[in-house]
This record gives sequence, C-alpha cells and structure tokens, in this order.
Amino acid sequence: MTIMFWILSGAIMLPVHPYQISSKESVIAAPGDDAILPCTFTAVDSQNITNLIINWQHQDKVVHSFYLGKDQLERQGQAYRERTHLFMKEVLKGNASLALKDVRPHHDGEYTCDVTHERGATKHNVQLTVAAPYEDPKWVIHYNCDVILFTLSASHGFPEPTVSWKSPIGTSITTMELDTNTYTYSVKSNLTLSLNSTQTVAVEMKLKALAQYFIKEVTLHPQTGCCVSNGAHKNRPCLLISFPTIPTVFLATFFGLLFATH
Ligand SMILES: *[C@@H]1O[C@H](CO)[C@@H](O)[C@H](O)[C@H]1NC(C)=O
Ligand SMILES: *[C@@H]1O[C@H](CO)[C@@H](O)[C@H](O)[C@H]1NC(C)=O
Ligand SMILES: *[C@@H]1O[C@H](CO)[C@@H](O)[C@H](O)[C@H]1NC(C)=O
Ligand SMILES: *[C@@H]1O[C@H](CO)[C@@H](O)[C@H](O)[C@H]1NC(C)=O
Repeated sequence: MTIMFWILSGAIMLPVHPYQISSKESVIAAPGDDAILPCTFTAVDSQNITNLIINWQHQDKVVHSFYLGKDQLERQGQAYRERTHLFMKEVLKGNASLALKDVRPHHDGEYTCDVTHERGATKHNVQLTVAAPYEDPKWVIHYNCDVILFTLSASHGFPEPTVSWKSPIGTSITTMELDTNTYTYSVKSNLTLSLNSTQTVAVEMKLKALAQYFIKEVTLHPQTGCCVSNGAHKNRPCLLISFPTIPTVFLATFFGLLFATH
C-alpha cells in the first residue's frame, strides 16, 4: 500500500496522517446471495478521484483494486472475476463498500479494505461469513415391537451442522448431502435403538455460525408384553413418550407424531 511519508532528520519517518484502523465489521451471506462489504473513510470535498486508491484483499488475493480514477482488475483473483463492483456515486462521499455477487462458500473469510486518500489512509477489516440457516428441522419417531427409529431432517443450510444424539444405547447414522446448485446441505440422521426400560433420548443440531440450535428430548417408556400376543393388545401402544417440559405423561399420538406400529 502506498502511504506517504515525510522524511525527518535521516532515519525517522512519520506518516503524514495517522493510519486509522477501525473495528472489525461482520457480514453474513447465504450461498448465492449478493453481499455488500462495508468500508468507509473520511472524504474531503476536494478529493481528486485520480489520487484515490482503494484496494480490497482476501488473504493474499486481490478482490478489487481502484486507482488512477478507474477499476484496475488485471490482478484480480479468479474467485472474484465478474462478481465485484464499487459504488462510484458513493466513492467520492467516502464510501468504498464493495458489492460481491453470488457469494460462494470459498468467499468466506476476512477481507481488508485499504484506502489512500487526501486525508491519509484507512484500513478496515470485514469478516464475511457464508452461512444459511437450516429450514424446517424436525424429528420423527417410528417404532415397532423390536426397534425405535428416530429420524432428524433439515434442509438448505450451510455450512454442515453438528448433530449429536444423547441416548444410553443405540446407533446413529448421519448423512449430509451437498446440493451443487445451491451450495447448501440437506441433513438426515437416524438413531435406531431397542429398549426394555425407560430411557431419555435427546438430539442436538447446531449451526454455530448463526447460533441456530435445534434441541429435542423425550423420555421413552416401553410397555412390557404388549407385542407378545397379536390379538388382545392390538390397540394398546407399545411405547409411551413423555416430554420433559410437560408435567403429565402424554401419549405421543396426541402430539401428531408419526408412528408405525405393527
Ligand atoms: C487530479 O490529480 C491529477 C494527478 O495528481 C492531476 O493531473 C489533475 O489535474 C487533478 N485534477 C483536479 C481536478 O484537481
Ligand atoms: C455505501 O454504499 C452502499 C451501496 O450503495 C450502501 O449500501 C451503504 O449503506 C453505504 N454506506 C454508507 C455508510 O453510506
Ligand atoms: C435411516 O434408516 C433407514 C432405515 O434403517 C435407512 O434406509 C436410511 O438409509 C437411514 N438414513 C440415514 C441417513 O442413515
Ligand atoms: C434389556 O436389554 C438389554 C440390551 O438390549 C439386554 O442385555 C437385557 O438382557 C434386557 N433385559 C431384559 C430384562 O430383557
């Protein structure tokens, strides 16, 4: 970056104006969104656009450069081609914010905006987080005489969430599928268990970047003997399910959960 120095008595160099570093700003964009990365500086009315230098970087990659009164995109990183622009009407007012079109997962990270202008130089850091909340997270319980199957599902989120089951026994399988058109994931997770005593089962799905938490817990009360004879107990549920926040034990069928009993 170009910073102007005055050279005083040989070795001591002082900048003309202090180099201002502002606090870090944060932008969240979902894959496919257009984002604006904010960057402002103190403009003077007499600012000559020819003497204005704006440089946006992501790590060692050039995101967008502007000097000698125009965009200079020869050294622009491949990941930013045809995706960036400055707002020219805003630039002379001290607004060097950058538009980034069609955000992709690899755009995630910290950006710096360096501006050299007639009052000195400023540097801004902007954190771009690429994230989208999961839609419609839900869990469903199916059971028969032998096994209880919990299925957790959620879709169109980014990045991958963490999924954890809390259960004394049972095995879980989690799959996350990336949709290469939308750059979002669909999540499915199964817990299969067989019970012969009352147990509590819980699931947690977390997307830290957006503080999205889906946490559910139930206590399962298997009913002994109900599967042994097929005739007499046909209409009796083999499993009672209670929810921790509700004091009375309810039959889960009252809550419209999906059941498969045979
Ligand atoms: C702006 O600066 C350039 C280069 O320093 C100079 O040639 C030009 O005359 C200036 N324009 C105005 C309007 O001051
Ligand atoms: C800078 O310009 C962008 C694009 O017009 C706008 O969204 C943003 O609010 C402006 N920032 C300021 C501080 O005016
Ligand atoms: C969930 O379980 C069903 C039945 O066992 C199986 O067909 C399906 O592939 C499982 N899905 C996942 C994500 O583990
Ligand atoms: C309950 O289940 C566990 C594990 O499936 C088994 O080891 C145990 O013998 C069972 N107890 C009864 C009383 O059926």
